[in-house]
Amino acid sequence: MKIAIGGKGGVGKSTLAALLARQGASDGRRVIAIDADPDMNLSSCLGIDEDLTPLVEMEDLIAQRAGGKGMVKLNPEVDDIPDRFYVETDGVKVMLFGTVWSGGAGCTCPENAFLRELLNHLLLERDEVVIADMEAGIEHLGRGTGEGVDALLVVVEPDRRSVETKSRIQELAEDIGLEEVLPVCNKVRGEEERNFLVEVIPEEPLGFVPYSERIRKASRRGEMVSLENEGVKQSIESIWCNLKAQLE
Ligand SMILES: Nc1ncnc2c1ncn2[C@@H]1O[C@H](COP(=O)(O)OP(=O)(O)OP(=O)(O)O)[C@@H](O)[C@H]1O
Ligand SMILES: [Mg+2]
Repeated sequence: MKIAIGGKGGVGKSTLAALLARQGASDGRRVIAIDADPDMNLSSCLGIDEDLTPLVEMEDLIAQRAGGKGMVKLNPEVDDIPDRFYVETDGVKVMLFGTVWSGGAGCTCPENAFLRELLNHLLLERDEVVIADMEAGIEHLGRGTGEGVDALLVVVEPDRRSVETKSRIQELAEDIGLEEVLPVCNKVRGEEERNFLVEVIPEEPLGFVPYSERIRKASRRGEMVSLENEGVKQSIESIWCNLKAQLE
C-alpha cells in the first residue's frame, strides 16, 4: 500500500500521516513514513525530536550518487538508502527527505534527481507500506512518481477553502493520471460540521476524524500525537480498514 497525503496547509496532513503510520505498524505492517516537509512536521508528530539532517542536505551523498551540477545522473543508485538513512519509532521507519523539488518538479538538479529516484524506488520496488506526507500541493507527484502511488488521501476540514483546495488537487491528480483520490475529513466537531462536509463533498469520505483537544495540546507542546483519544482511535482504525479494503 503506497499512499500520499495532500490537502490545504494546516488541515492535518502530518497528523493523519503519523496516526495512520502508527496504525499500520500496530496492525503488524512494516511502514515507511516519508517526511517531505522542510519543517519536519511529520517527524515531530511521530515524537522524533532529534535534530536530524534531511537527505536533501546530504551534499556528499547526493554528489556521490547523482553527480555534481552540470553532469547530473538521472538514475542514481538509491536501493541501499532506505535501509541506511531512517529513524525508527514505534515500529515506523521515518525517512527525512527535506524540501522536495525546491527548484520545481521539472528541475534537473542532483538533489531532485536523487529524491525523485528514491521516491520511485520506495513506491515501486519496496514492499513496505509507504505513507508520504508531502507539502501542500501535489506537483511533486507528477512526472512519473504519481504512477507509484495507489491513492492520494486529501485531507479536508469543515471549512470551505479546504474543500476548494481538494477540488483543485483532484483536477491536478487527474492531469497526472492519479485516479484514486480519497477525501478524509479532519477536525470535525459534532453533527453540524459532519453534515456540512457530507453536503459539500460529492464522494463518500474515507472517514471522519473528530477534533481533539489532545491532538492540539500535543502539537502545542511539540509532543507526538497519540491514538489514546477514543474517538480519534476509532476513526483511524476505520480509515485504515477502508484503505485496506479499497487498495488491497
Ligand atoms: N483532529 C484534530 N483535532 C485537533 N487538532 C488537530 C487535528 N488534526 C490536526 N490538528 C492540529 O492542526 C494543526 C495542523 O496540523 P498538521 O500540522 O498535521 O497539518 P498539516 O496539514 O500537516 O500542516 P502543514 O500544511 O503546515 O504541513 C496542528 O496544530 C494540529 O495539532
Ligand atoms: Mg505538515
